Amino acid sequence: MPDHPQPAPAVNAGKSRRRVRKAIFPVGGLGTRFLPATKAMPKEMLPVVDRPLIQYAVDEARAAGIEEFIFVTGRGKTAIEDHFDESFELMSTLQTKGKVKELDELTRMMLEPGEVAYTRQQEPLGLGHAVWCARRFAEGEPVAVLLADDLIKSETPCLKQMIDAQAEVGGNILATMEVPEADVSNYGIVFPGAIDGNLVEVKGLVEKPAAEDAPSNFAVIGRYILQPEVFDHLGEKKIGAGGEIQLTDAMAALIGRQPFHGLTFEGTRFDCGSKIGFLEATLAFALDRPDLGGRFRNVLRRYAD
Ligand code: G1P
Repeated sequence: MPDHPQPAPAVNAGKSRRRVRKAIFPVGGLGTRFLPATKAMPKEMLPVVDRPLIQYAVDEARAAGIEEFIFVTGRGKTAIEDHFDESFELMSTLQTKGKVKELDELTRMMLEPGEVAYTRQQEPLGLGHAVWCARRFAEGEPVAVLLADDLIKSETPCLKQMIDAQAEVGGNILATMEVPEADVSNYGIVFPGAIDGNLVEVKGLVEKPAAEDAPSNFAVIGRYILQPEVFDHLGEKKIGAGGEIQLTDAMAALIGRQPFHGLTFEGTRFDCGSKIGFLEATLAFALDRPDLGGRFRNVLRRYAD
């Protein structure tokens, strides 16, 4: 018996409420839908107005309080590492020329030494496998996962909305939105339980079901907060839909053991993995820019039918 009193367990000290400090960015995908643009350039570097897609995702994570940024890359993706790194010649040239605004912007977007890690997914075995490649960096902590293809325009960054929700209910949180029935086969789909405001209890998950088999039209969008136990299930490397190791299947294995919710987030999501979605994102972000919106609106009028 210990001869001194043990501290009482803290209220809500369950594993599931640990603060989310780390984010994983799976950026190893080939980007075949944007060939030839993505032949030699990562799809995550495609710019919406003047920022590459991956930078929107990193900025969103940072604004949500993320402190460690873990990229799961692949061959041909070094432009992403360069993008977030110091560019000595460029920065000293901007300094010499007095281009303060540009210099500030570049300084602001850089990732600090030690807050970024890169690891490679050697084989394209699926999203679940990509996330599993980052397991050692997670070091037993809960993680956020952000898919840069899903660009979300919102007042409060989507991941921040999710972290706030997670602080309330604990466990795992997915970003969800309702999609037309014809589109359910493109997404992970939630089998919904009780709905409480903008939170839906997740009772099951299925990856890319046929419309007739889909348990709802609540689709999973590429933002996740996951407890570290997900890595145990990913480690089983079960092959799922499309012959790939699916994140959806590993998440499904957590249901019933940990709290699991979908959050219908405030904001608009653009599917920048598709050409139409990408073009729409460009319009929405350009129209919203104080320095471009007015002139761009005039340009659009010339093309409207
Ligand atoms: C991935 C996930 C899917 C999710 C989607 C969101 O699919 O596997 O569950 O709904 O992202 O964009 P992908 O679009 O990579 O095929």
